[in-house]
Amino acid sequence: MPRTPLIAGNWKMYTTPEDARDLARAIRDGAAGVEGVDILVCPPFTSLAAVAEELAGTPLALGAQNMYYEETGAFTGEISPLMLAALGVSSVLVGHSERRQHFGEKNETLNRKVKAALAHGLKPILCVGETLAEREAGASWKEVVRGQVRAGLEGLDAADLGPVAIAYEPVWAIGTGKTATPAAAQEAHAMIREALAETFGAQAAEERRILYGGSVKPDNVRELMAEVDVDGALVGGASLKAETFLPIIKFRA
Ligand code: PGA
Repeated sequence: MPRTPLIAGNWKMYTTPEDARDLARAIRDGAAGVEGVDILVCPPFTSLAAVAEELAGTPLALGAQNMYYEETGAFTGEISPLMLAALGVSSVLVGHSERRQHFGEKNETLNRKVKAALAHGLKPILCVGETLAEREAGASWKEVVRGQVRAGLEGLDAADLGPVAIAYEPVWAIGTGKTATPAAAQEAHAMIREALAETFGAQAAEERRILYGGSVKPDNVRELMAEVDVDGALVGGASLKAETFLPIIKFRA
């Protein structure tokens, strides 16, 4: 079975519920009739309910940008997988580089989040990627990325892996306008798939979707998606306007 492409929008800390509703509506209407591509939008927590209403009854999926791994408890300011599932959220980003960088999220915590998401029927998208300094340090960036994949999925079996996707987002490409070349993205994705195969076997690795993220735009999505191991895109800036997100969804057109 070929992997169905997944195009995901990460709205980051943008949109009030009203803005989010407008954006969700425009994406929903503009994406009507698009087939063979899974579409996911990840608004901020405060806009999830509004967007859930706009997407109800459509094939567009709703994701969260983060979550805590406990179900309930004295964890002021946190959001649990139970709360997300109750809003109709089906996917969750785990370990976005901005979480790692600004909020000190470590692989061990992210592994707990991945497991908690799976336990609650949420599909985790585990985000990995090297910083500019790591990339410039030479070949060791590969070990950083492989390490993030292994640690994030530690303790899981191939049978658990079905709902999991990986997003490779080189930190130097996020929000900078500097996209990885298709060849560089392919190199990293192939390496991630190989790391998955080593731990979980060839079949589980073959079935996994590996998204590319980092300055994906309407004018570079096609060449990135043409690479054999690039199975989708995690889009930040360009997902905040229907005019730029819709052409990315329609990359085949
Ligand atoms: P960008 O962000 O598309 O604005 O580079 C991607 C991401 O952070 O997921």
